[in-house]
Amino acid sequence: MKAVVYKGPRNVDVEEVKKPEIEKPTDVIIKVTSSGICGSDLHLYDGHGPDGLGTILGHEPMGVVEEVGDAVELVKPGDRVVIPFNVACGSCLNCIRGLTNMCLTMNPDAAIANYGYPGAGPYAGGQAEYLRVPYGDWACLKLPGEPGDEFEDDFVMLADIFPTAYYAAELAKVKTGKTVAVFGAGPVGLLAAYSSMLMGASEVYVVDKSDKRLKLAESIGAVPINFTDGDPVEMIMQIRQNNKNLMSSLRPGEEKVLGVDCAIDAVGYQALDRNNSEEFKPNQVLMDIARIIAPGGSIGVIGVYSPDPAGKDENEKQGYLTLPWAELWFKGVSIGTGPTPVKQMHGFLRNLIFNGKAKPSFIVSDRISIDEAPEAYKQFDKRDDVVKPIIKFH
Ligand SMILES: NC(=O)c1ccc[n+]([C@@H]2O[C@H](COP(=O)([O-])OP(=O)(O)OC[C@H]3O[C@@H](n4cnc5c(N)ncnc54)[C@H](O)[C@@H]3O)[C@@H](O)[C@H]2O)c1
Ligand SMILES: [Zn+2]
Ligand SMILES: [Zn+2]
Repeated sequence: MKAVVYKGPRNVDVEEVKKPEIEKPTDVIIKVTSSGICGSDLHLYDGHGPDGLGTILGHEPMGVVEEVGDAVELVKPGDRVVIPFNVACGSCLNCIRGLTNMCLTMNPDAAIANYGYPGAGPYAGGQAEYLRVPYGDWACLKLPGEPGDEFEDDFVMLADIFPTAYYAAELAKVKTGKTVAVFGAGPVGLLAAYSSMLMGASEVYVVDKSDKRLKLAESIGAVPINFTDGDPVEMIMQIRQNNKNLMSSLRPGEEKVLGVDCAIDAVGYQALDRNNSEEFKPNQVLMDIARIIAPGGSIGVIGVYSPDPAGKDENEKQGYLTLPWAELWFKGVSIGTGPTPVKQMHGFLRNLIFNGKAKPSFIVSDRISIDEAPEAYKQFDKRDDVVKPIIKFH
């Protein structure tokens, strides 16, 4: 079968590899119909991830069950399914309390396992014609309809970024009436803004430098903030200060809450330095968030922070960051972080999709064949016009 293989920094190739087989009775094999390329794949592509030459990439697959092991009871060949990016057993101490993002049994080296990522267990990725899914009964989320129907591009978002973006909003404690600032207008940031709207936020700001991505943010009712026009924190404060209704409803002292109630970091350690956007500054977004968050606010850090082998100094290589901790402490903020436990919410989000209440596919910019994947990685890596590429197999 064909698969996208990591060949080193800025180099992926499409290769003929062996089709996966059932290895354990709990396995399922799926025939992939759609598979996303993710900002997380770009960390590796850019040379900022672990050494993983030869890894079959991809952790955002959906498709049709092709074959099931003898112990699989809940899904059968022909079922249409989407697979969480987390590989998990479903029955360890962490899995049974919902922390399937930190499964204790699927990776001997750490409490995390994902498809198609070096360091996250020995699992081949889903940018391939077929995928082996361990613990298929646990993993497969069943979907209605037929491959290639009107919901295909929405459902493929359920493997990672729609649950991830929704989880980011949960970590940031978004709810009805709250104000939200999202940093990053990539797929995760855009869907975090969208999730915040679903949760009833009263104001949502989205910060990035790509006009194309910010236009999408605007199209769903968020306020676009382009950080090449100035300091995004000051720009958000200014917009709020210009809001006559807001200003005339504050009592003395309450101008201190002109910052936002909720902030979401949908960028991570490959944040660009706002003073020199040719360079990365891993703590850039966290520094901005510390300033924009209002006292008593909550922060969801969903962008990945990782040791960076290409870091500029020893601290970056270790994943150590400098933070304005005193400011965060005095503001009494809560901070939530980590990989997403997709299983906690992908079923609920699926129901929103087929009931017509959510359409996360508005971010999909490119539908490509697997042979076009190397070029799609190259273009997506510019983090501009190619917002979300999906590999199609049907
Ligand atoms: N926690 C999880 O489980 C999980 C799951 C999926 C993705 N992620 C992570 O989420 C992050 C975003 O993913 P994506 O697919 O949207 O990636 P992406 O690379 O397409 O988007 C990142 C965006 O951030 C913008 N950006 C860069 N520096 C900035 C700055 N200083 N201020 C504001 N915006 C800035 C970029 O221009 C880009 O549009 C990545 O780190 C990815 O690994 C985490
Ligand atoms: Zn992803
Ligand atoms: Zn487990």
